[in-house]
Amino acid sequence: MELKFDYFYDWAKKKLNLDLRAYKQKQLQRRITTVMRNGGAASLEEYSKLIEKDANIKQQFLDYITINVTDFFRNKDIFSEFERIVTSDLNPKFGPLKIWSAACSIGSEPYSLGIIMDKNNLPIKGKILATDIDEMILTRAKEGSYKETEIKNLDSVDLKRYFVLEKDLYNIDKNIKKMVEFKKHDLILGRYGTGFHIIICRNVTIYFKNEVKDEIYKKFNDALVPGGVLFTGATESIYNPEKLGFRKLSTFIYEKV
Ligand SMILES: C[S@@+](CC[C@H](N)C(=O)[O-])C[C@H]1O[C@@H](n2cnc3c(N)ncnc32)[C@H](O)[C@@H]1O
Repeated sequence: MELKFDYFYDWAKKKLNLDLRAYKQKQLQRRITTVMRNGGAASLEEYSKLIEKDANIKQQFLDYITINVTDFFRNKDIFSEFERIVTSDLNPKFGPLKIWSAACSIGSEPYSLGIIMDKNNLPIKGKILATDIDEMILTRAKEGSYKETEIKNLDSVDLKRYFVLEKDLYNIDKNIKKMVEFKKHDLILGRYGTGFHIIICRNVTIYFKNEVKDEIYKKFNDALVPGGVLFTGATESIYNPEKLGFRKLSTFIYEKV
């Protein structure tokens, strides 16, 4: 049976305020079909009714669609390059840095930034803003408690210095926790702030259509101060940065011109 994606997208926009047309379609439709079948529905009409009725099915759908995989210091070598740019360029140029970690998942990314700032004794302007579209994931991020598999990328020195082990869970140090403020934000439909020196947005634009991706990068450009940087994921290098108002500093780090 042919699935009625148009119906489902209109429904998702109206009832969940989710713009599924912005995502890459082949990948997305495959994922929707799988999660719909896992939920026990045979059509998208049936599935939408189930989502409206059952909070667990709704959460299962959102989790599956948004893909929350993450890590501390994901791609360590690129993070080292980023750390070098922050300490040798951004901090001397701007002083206290205003930072946004967009699509932050369970918080590993904004907490990694907090650790970098703390280690290098660098001041932050306000708090690190950390946002994601998924409210459940933000609740987890705020807790800052991680299973062993989730902290595997940390070296033993950072683990000892910045985490407290309690009943099999690694809890982020309370001073690092205090440096981060979590908020719900949709990169497609949400409004963007201004005056940022650093925006880190990794491993989410790969799921968006090219025109949506460019639109997001333009909005990031507007949100940055001149000389501020955008840090992207390891598969998200920007093909034509000049067109979007950026200059390439390294493969995944771009400065606003
Ligand atoms: C693969 S994770 C990336 C996490 C982290 N940035 C990293 O690179 O490790 C993708 C995150 O993007 C979030 N996401 C998906 N669509 C989004 C949207 N439209 N706006 C904001 N966040 C979104 C998901 O909820 C998920 O937490």
